[in-house]
Order: sequence, then C-alpha cells, then structure tokens
Amino acid sequence: MRKLLFAVAAAAVLVAPAVVQAQSPIVIKFSHVVANDTPKGKGALKFKELAEKYTDGKVKVEIYPNSTLYKDKEEIEALQLGSVHMLAPSTAKFAPLGIKEFEALDLPWLFKDDQTYSNAMKGTIGKWLFEKLETKGITGLAYWDNGFHMLSANRPLAKPTDFQGLKFRISGSKVADQYLRIMGSIPQIMAFSEVYQALQTGVVDGQENTWSNIYTQKMHEVQKYITVTNHGYIGYIVVVNKKFWDGIPADIKPQLEKAMQEATAYGNGQSQKENDDALAEIKKTGKSEIVTLTAEQDAAMRKALEPVYQDVAKRVGQPLIDEFLKETRGATN
Ligand code: LMR
Repeated sequence: MRKLLFAVAAAAVLVAPAVVQAQSPIVIKFSHVVANDTPKGKGALKFKELAEKYTDGKVKVEIYPNSTLYKDKEEIEALQLGSVHMLAPSTAKFAPLGIKEFEALDLPWLFKDDQTYSNAMKGTIGKWLFEKLETKGITGLAYWDNGFHMLSANRPLAKPTDFQGLKFRISGSKVADQYLRIMGSIPQIMAFSEVYQALQTGVVDGQENTWSNIYTQKMHEVQKYITVTNHGYIGYIVVVNKKFWDGIPADIKPQLEKAMQEATAYGNGQSQKENDDALAEIKKTGKSEIVTLTAEQDAAMRKALEPVYQDVAKRVGQPLIDEFLKETRGATN
C-alpha cells in the first residue's frame, strides 16, 4: 500500500505544472528565426515591453531573434523539452508534430487576401487547431500575421515550365514540396537562417517568402527575379510549453494574456505595412526585378497546381479544406 501511495505521489509530481513561481522574476525565453524589423520581430518586442510593464517586472521576457538560440526544426523540439518557453513558428513548421491538418494551410491560393486568412484563423478553425496542439504539450496563444509569399529565382518565373530543374528551398511544408515537384523543380527543406547563403552559393536556385523576410534577409541581393505570386500565406502561431504556461501563477497570467492580446493587435496591424515598405525598399535597390503575372499566366499556374488540392484532401479531409474555402469564396454560413 505504501508503495502504491508513493507511486501515486510521484506520478502527481510528474504531471504537476512546473513550479514557475520559484523563480523570481519569471523568465520567458522567446526564440524566433526572423529579424527584429519584421512583423513577427516587432510583435515579439511589443509583447516583451507590455508583459514586463503589466507584471511590474515580475516577468522578464528574453527575445532571441534571427535563430540566435535555435533554428526552425530545433526550436519546436526545444519547446517540447522546455528549454525554451515561447516561439512563433509559421504554420508550415508544425508538420514535425504530426498534426497533418496544418497542411491544409499551405494549399496554393487557399486564401484570397489577408482578411480571408484572418477570418478563418481567428474563428472556430483557429481554436480547433489550438486544441490539436494541446495534445502535443503545446499551448497556442495567438495567431500572428505576416503576409503572402512570393517566389524568387535567378530566372523569371512566369509559367509552370519556368520551374523545371530548379532547386527550391522550402521551410518544411509537404504541400510546398508537392506543388514545386509538379512544376518540375527540386524542393529542399532548409532552416531559414541558411537560406541567404544557400542562394548566394547556388546550393539552391530559388525560394518562397514574404517581402519583409526577403528584404530583411537580403535575399533580393542574390535573386535576380521575384515573381508576385501571392500563392501562400505565412502566418504564425505563438506557442508556449504547456507545462510552463500552466505553472504561471494565477495572479500573473492575466497580465501576460493581456500583453499577448495587445501585442497581437499591434503586430497584426503592422504586417501589411511592413511588407509594403519592404517591397518599396527592394524596388529601390534595383537588385531584383519584380515579375508581375498576366491574368493568363496566373490562371495557368493555378491550373497546374490544382492536383495538390485532391491530394491534401486525401490526407486532411475535404470538409476542412471547404471550411477554409468558404472564407475565400465569401460564403456566410
Ligand atoms: C521561413 O522559414 O521562410 C519563414 O517561415 C520564416 C518566418 O518565420 O517567417
């Protein structure tokens, strides 16, 4: 009996939230892979400012931008292990957790515009995806916006055959892997921090990203052409280690939640401008030519990538895709 009681007590200790209170101040390590001067970078800094202010210094937020602490794949592992507390990876990077539903978000032209994305993620689907994360020991706190991504290379990419034989860096999405293969290119998963050098040295020929990421990583200096495709949305989920978050004292958590809510509104309110400004700066440098697709070229590209939809439907189910498409098609029910 005594043995049993001991085992029960030991198990209780194992499942109990970490004793965050023991530490003073509570330190939140927030790691991410982009520059400070991007939608995510600015959101993270705003969260730090507000969290420290609202908790009267009882919480200290340490921001590690630019992959200085962890690269993409490592950061999710580190979060699960509790070596880092907060991240904001793009939704495309949740695949290693085995939650296949996230794949749907990478479907080409799933979202018509920023508003469509925002409506979908900030409604019931967004909450449902948060529940999926809980099963992996991760709590989702907010959806942060970046914007639509473009395709760049050293040749203009205006029709599906232009992709033939090119090596493309992708961030981790199976769906991106598939649509690039359909057009005859060779996709390769690579950490964000390695992209500039890989493009410079020819390890890869092209990549896909938002204007703000392209500009702050100087990718436009090593890519002769950037095609305005707007084919996919880079959005982030601010996530925390669940055990750590559950262990934050009840008199502190509301202030952190308030800080997160306000940082989210601030960052999301700026993302469009960040990307517009970055595009203007890229144009000013004259280093990359911006390729705009004609209506026919755009239609041909969309047609070529249609088979990806059927394939993803087999993995995540058509109803989920339809739920997203409802926003894009403007249905109200
Ligand atoms: C990428 O890896 O290209 C992006 O997801 C980086 C980021 O966090 O915006």
